[in-house]
Amino acid sequence: MMPQGDIAVLPTFSLAGRLVVVTGASQGLGLLFAQSCARAGAHVLLSSRREDKLREAAAGIIAAGGRADIRVSDITSLAQIKELADHAGMIADRDGLHLVAVNNAGIAFTKPAFEVNEEDFDRVIDVHLKGTFFACQQLGQLMATRGYGKIINLSSTWSAGSDTGKSIYCAAKAGISHLTSALAVEWAPLGVRVCALAPTTTLTDATQRSLDASPERAARLLARIPLGRYSVPEDLIGALVFLAGATSDFITGQTLFVDGGWTAR
Ligand SMILES: NC(=O)c1ccc[n+]([C@@H]2O[C@H](COP(=O)([O-])OP(=O)(O)OC[C@H]3O[C@@H](n4cnc5c(N)ncnc54)[C@H](OP(=O)(O)O)[C@@H]3O)[C@@H](O)[C@H]2O)c1
Repeated sequence: MMPQGDIAVLPTFSLAGRLVVVTGASQGLGLLFAQSCARAGAHVLLSSRREDKLREAAAGIIAAGGRADIRVSDITSLAQIKELADHAGMIADRDGLHLVAVNNAGIAFTKPAFEVNEEDFDRVIDVHLKGTFFACQQLGQLMATRGYGKIINLSSTWSAGSDTGKSIYCAAKAGISHLTSALAVEWAPLGVRVCALAPTTTLTDATQRSLDASPERAARLLARIPLGRYSVPEDLIGALVFLAGATSDFITGQTLFVDGGWTAR
C-alpha cells in the first residue's frame, strides 16, 4: 500500500495473520520473543533442542490466550531445519498465515584467541553462521514461493566491535550481519525481507552469570554503553515486533542495533 499521508494509515504493530518461527525459544531472548509475538497476535512455532522446555513455554503462551506449536530441532542439522521448515509450511498453509522467521538460536562464547581449538571454532560457527544460513535458506524458500516473508537474524554489537576473547563470536556475528544484507539483496525481488537485530550485553540469566563471574569485564562492558546501563530483554521487544510486522515492510538488509548507543561511541 502506498503512503497516503492520512491518519487512517497510522501503523499497526499487530502480528495477527502471521506465523512467527522462533529458534532458540526454550529460554532467554528467544522465549521472550515468542511470548511477545504471541501477545501481538501471532501464531508462534517455538524450536530448540529441549522438548520439555519448549512444551512448558508453549503451554504458558496458550494459557495466556495465545497460539503456539513446538518443534524440536538442532540448528546445526540441515535435516532438522528442513523438518522445522516443513512443519512451519504446513501450519502456514493450513491457517493461511504469512511466515516470519526469528533466527535466534545461539551460544555465548568468550575465550582468548590463542586458546580457541578446532572444536570451539566449529561449534560457534556451526550454531551461529551455518545454523542461521540454513534456517534462512529453508524458511526463505517457503516465503519465496508465497511471495512474502520476513526474516530476523540475531546479530550483536560484537558484529561491529570487539573485546578480548570475542574473536570467533565477533566473526560469527559479523558474518550474520553481512549474510543478512546479502540475502536481502538476493531475495528482495521475491518479497522476502531479511533484517538483523543486534543487541548489546543483555541481562538474561546466562549473561548475568557470566558478568558475575568477571566483575572487571562487566565494568568494562558497562562503561562502553552511553546510556549507562546494560540492556534488559524487554528493551528488544519493540524492535523485534516492528521488524516482524507489516509496518517495517520497506526495510530490508538492515542490522538494527538496540544498544544504548554502543555503536555510536
Ligand atoms: N544475551 C545477550 O547479551 C545477547 C547479546 C547479543 C546477542 N545475543 C544473541 O541473542 C541470541 C539469544 O541469546 P540468549 O542470551 O537468549 O541465549 P541463551 O539464553 O543461551 O539461549 C540460547 C537458546 O538457543 C538454543 N540453542 C543453543 N544451541 C542450539 C542448537 N544447536 N540448536 C537449536 N537451538 C539451540 C537454546 O535452546 P536449547 O538448549 O533448548 O537447544 C536456547 O533456547 C543468540 O543468538 C545470542 O548470540 C545475545
